[in-house]
Amino acid sequence: METTDLVLAILHHLLAFSLAGVIAAEFVLIRNELTPATLRRLARVDRHYGLLAVLIILVGIGRVFHGLKGWEFYVYNWVFWVKMAIFAAVGLLSIGPTIRFIAWNRQVVANSAFQVPAHELSAVRRNVWLEALLFLAIPAFAAAMARGYGL
Ligand code: HEM
Repeated sequence: METTDLVLAILHHLLAFSLAGVIAAEFVLIRNELTPATLRRLARVDRHYGLLAVLIILVGIGRVFHGLKGWEFYVYNWVFWVKMAIFAAVGLLSIGPTIRFIAWNRQVVANSAFQVPAHELSAVRRNVWLEALLFLAIPAFAAAMARGYGL
């Protein structure tokens, strides 16, 4: 149905932009000095990550099965699967930073003089940088897939 397709497409775009916002916020926050307030903010921003990712998966699956093109258009399209693989890679890369943000926040609550260890910070910076880079490729593959590339 056209209305279902439209509503799912709108939600899909809004969720994708929101997730881009979360990644961008983390990207900027970890580049600044990690004060107790910044560590709290990082943990708070990151909490939205999982929720948005789950919603994107649900709405994305909704688009595959209730979109106008039919599920066969996507499941036999390798560009679609590359897009899924990149999205999964971004999700896997986000696990390390999420664990760190929770741990750092817990430690700074217990001890306000807590300093983030340099090696942990550089690992988190590297992961978030890679997440941002890979995330940029997703709309490119999405646009190609929507136009029948990969069939
Ligand atoms: C499990 C995750 C996802 C699934 C199953 C999924 C599935 C889909 C489907 C079925 C379409 C419709 C394409 C068409 O019109 O034929 C679409 C479009 C699109 N997706 Fe996703 N998607 C997912 C995640 C994402 C993410 C994380 C982004 C982030 C940028 C994204 C960005 C887009 C964009 C920009 C379009 C519109 C492409 C266009 O019409 O040019 N998707 N997606």
